[in-house]
Amino acid sequence: MDSVTILAIETSCDETAAAVVRNGREVLSNVIHTQIPVHALYGGVVPEIASRKHMERINPVIEKALSDAGTELKDVDAVAVTYGPGLVGALLVGVAEAKALAFAAGKPLIGVNHIEGHICANYIEHKELKPPYLGLVVSGGHTHLFIAENELSFKILGRTVDDAAGEAFDKVARAIGLGYPGGPKIDALAKEGNPDAIPLPKAKVSGQEYSFSFSGLKSAVLNLLMKAERSGQEINKADLAASFQKSVCSVLTEHAVAAAREYGLRDLALAGGVAANSCLRATLSAACLENDLNFYVPSPIYCTDNAAMIGAAAYFEYMAGKRSGLDLNAVPGLGLGER
Ligand code: KG4
Ligand code: ZN
Repeated sequence: MDSVTILAIETSCDETAAAVVRNGREVLSNVIHTQIPVHALYGGVVPEIASRKHMERINPVIEKALSDAGTELKDVDAVAVTYGPGLVGALLVGVAEAKALAFAAGKPLIGVNHIEGHICANYIEHKELKPPYLGLVVSGGHTHLFIAENELSFKILGRTVDDAAGEAFDKVARAIGLGYPGGPKIDALAKEGNPDAIPLPKAKVSGQEYSFSFSGLKSAVLNLLMKAERSGQEINKADLAASFQKSVCSVLTEHAVAAAREYGLRDLALAGGVAANSCLRATLSAACLENDLNFYVPSPIYCTDNAAMIGAAAYFEYMAGKRSGLDLNAVPGLGLGER
């Protein structure tokens, strides 16, 4: 078969997205309707609102993805959808829609793991990237250091033992009074601050070489803010944002580079929403250069939630002959490498 075109749907959190992707790497369309302005009013994602908004937007988003790609449902080879991890109500909207479309058009259905979608985002723009490589996926819900043994198989070396990296960004941003979503706001404010101004703990776990722990770092920031408020002391928020961000980026970078060296891997690929962070991209890129490693990261638009990455991951599932039944269900706690 020379060409495989997949319609992919993503509704795991607060983005309603659809894309048409050819051969896992060529994005023919990529439509994202973000719900961020609605959830920002509440300081975080409200699951019930997310499901309702997905239901309102899913059909127009899919229609636009098909028309932007100049194609129709009858001409795609498969319908792919994120079935986990994520918010159960949000996932169910995409899963139900994909099942209905696949059934009505007589197309194969492919359920995709959202974390694996993030990882596969790297294949879209980096045609030369091939497993095995060292991967680091950092998002609002997940932080994993792993070896991609092939496109569908992952050996996990380390993970967070508490908060995900993105969750830490969001919680610290809320404490500083920056609002939701915290990651991009801290990223912007940190540019005006001194990353060495405030000493903060590192997000490491003693005795576990490749694990992460962000809750101690987050608590240190919260305690600092509380003490300052009590004593009427003024804290420079830009310095705090920059110092927090540096602490997160340095531990992610140190672990990733150490793992790539230990396992003799020459390629290092970063993915997930936090991969959009300018400090993390710069720190990891510099460390890779220094250690003679090739560094890969998707463009920011493919780092945060989108359906093109789901179409990329679905291609490898499709080529491996994997298909989902019409009994496909949402699996909110689906882990990396789980089917
Ligand atoms: O991958 P994603 O869009 O959704 C999940 O699968 O969780 O990641 C969202 C997370 C949020 O925590 C958000 O604050 C963080 O990614 N994020 C960032 C940046 N852009 C998004 N964190 C740091 N710097 C950024 N520029
Ligand atoms: Zn995501």
